[in-house]
Amino acid sequence: MRFTFVTLFPSIIEGYFTDSIMCRAVEGGYLRFDYLNPRDYSVDKHRKVDDTAAGGGAGMVMTPQPLSDALAHLKDESPGVHIIFTTPVGKPFSQKDARRLARKEHVAFVSGRYEGIDERVVEVFADECFSIGDYILTGGELASMVMADAIGRLVPGVLGNAKSLEMESFETDLLEAPSFTKPKSFHNLSIPSELLKGNHSKINALKKTMALSKTKYFRPERYLKFTQRDSDEK
Ligand code: ADE
Repeated sequence: MRFTFVTLFPSIIEGYFTDSIMCRAVEGGYLRFDYLNPRDYSVDKHRKVDDTAAGGGAGMVMTPQPLSDALAHLKDESPGVHIIFTTPVGKPFSQKDARRLARKEHVAFVSGRYEGIDERVVEVFADECFSIGDYILTGGELASMVMADAIGRLVPGVLGNAKSLEMESFETDLLEAPSFTKPKSFHNLSIPSELLKGNHSKINALKKTMALSKTKYFRPERYLKFTQRDSDEK
């Protein structure tokens, strides 16, 4: 699968995808990451990419020309590319979206900066607009990285062990059970003894109980949904 980051600041993103799991995924041929800088498409003699907001107001807005030329170039080169704009006013990004987008061949993320992007560019080029949460970031780069990571790890072959995806929080409605490793005792706290005895049906039952209590505590709305569905199925 291919990702293109359309950003004025590619160096913010590059490091993350050239290390660890993502780096191995690139080397293994499962993922590819490219960068496209709208500034390289600016026809302004100072390579300007922003201007004052129409109607006044604080902050600058990314102008249509450099970004739309960059995106037109991208679409010429890869006509099937799926273009996502990152914005705090987009729809909330979820694991369900990650699963759906992991089946695409090429996804591009457009990161807004300053006060945002001229809305007409969004109108013309956006296939979808996503927010990663109800808070305002300095720019869309972090949001693009979050989504690319969540999508990329679902591409077959990226994670060595596909089994590890199955029980993950959000793949089911429950949050995941907590994890433990050696030593057996840490700050006077022990590993739940059932996990050390090798009885897999008991281990699974304990994990389910722990997952239920985590979900009830941290995500009561999810807990309610799960228990309602569980009782409907019985
Ligand atoms: N840009 C700034 N804040 C954002 C957010 N919360 N989600 C996506 N893009 C953003």
